[in-house]
Amino acid sequence: MNLTRADLAALPSYVPGRTVPGSIKLASNEVPYGPLPGVVEAIVEAAQGVHRYPDLGVVALREKLAGRLGVAVDRIAAGCGSVAMTEHIMRATCLPGDEVVYSWRSFEAYPIIAATTGATSVRVPNTAAHGHDLPAMAAAVTSRTKLVIVCNPNNPTGTPLRRAELRDFLDAVGPDVVVVLDEAYREFVTDTEVPDGLVEFGDRPNVVVLRTLSKAWGLAGLRAGYLVAQPEVAEAVRKVITPFSTNIAAQAAALAALDQEEEMARRAALVVAERSRVRDALLKLGQDVPESQANFVWLPLGDGATAFAQACEQAGVIVRPFAGDGVRVTIGTPEENDTFLNAAEKAF
Ligand SMILES: Cc1ncc(COP(=O)(O)O)c(C=O)c1O
Repeated sequence: MNLTRADLAALPSYVPGRTVPGSIKLASNEVPYGPLPGVVEAIVEAAQGVHRYPDLGVVALREKLAGRLGVAVDRIAAGCGSVAMTEHIMRATCLPGDEVVYSWRSFEAYPIIAATTGATSVRVPNTAAHGHDLPAMAAAVTSRTKLVIVCNPNNPTGTPLRRAELRDFLDAVGPDVVVVLDEAYREFVTDTEVPDGLVEFGDRPNVVVLRTLSKAWGLAGLRAGYLVAQPEVAEAVRKVITPFSTNIAAQAAALAALDQEEEMARRAALVVAERSRVRDALLKLGQDVPESQANFVWLPLGDGATAFAQACEQAGVIVRPFAGDGVRVTIGTPEENDTFLNAAEKAF
């Protein structure tokens, strides 16, 4: 007898970047410079209170974010990482059978979250240049579509969407379908043509902007993310959040991290400089590497992806293969990147 949902058997599990002791990990899009100053102290202090529940409403963090972003606090929902926020916005918008449109390949959590919500995934293939095909995505919206996810820049390909094309897309979709702009890598964007979704489109009634403290802010291990939406949408999301899922340490650490914007930006700039260097080196090795606006680069190696990742691993570098498609390589420290480039040169 089946005690659990039969359809889950067909669902792929989320594959995290592997951690191999002694190896360099360039597999999970983390920033390599450790926690921001003051974060560890804030966690230690918060630890004194772990016999108490955390603030259910995550009010102090939402207020701080509201101040930084220049939006009302009732427009923010904060939770246990932006992957959880993706789940919550889907739960808040979709009933079983409703459609969720997203580009593919994109963030691997989207199909899993859609399936667990009971929503139907509508995947629109990436363009030949590895980015979102926005006209095709707009054309894929039907009367059953409740949510569209736009990942900008896209994980795992790093490709950005620019202002005019995103505006045209939002105009084409219209106001009746929620469009999530997943900007997990916003802090690494340097191309001024790539819009800040909140500043430029956040006032539209159906736009939801998703951000995380896991990447540039260095809190991947604690889990803190948020979304900004119109008040009614944010309120619906807050209703479906798993109660108390943003723990005391995560809330305290997020507050401390947000005080370190300058240092965050300094570190992000180091990553950006290395991103150019690594991409240029790979181009020189004859590889087709799309322009990245995130903290990783994409090698569209097709059937060679798994073997390339294995060769890197033998050289002490863990990268993230997507079998049959490509390999995503997170930008690390200059030394880590050199080790990767040496391994890559031999592996191609
Ligand atoms: C596009 C995208 N969105 C969301 C997330 C989730 O981030 P987190 O749940 O750590 O906030 C990731 C993490 O890899 C991502 O790549």
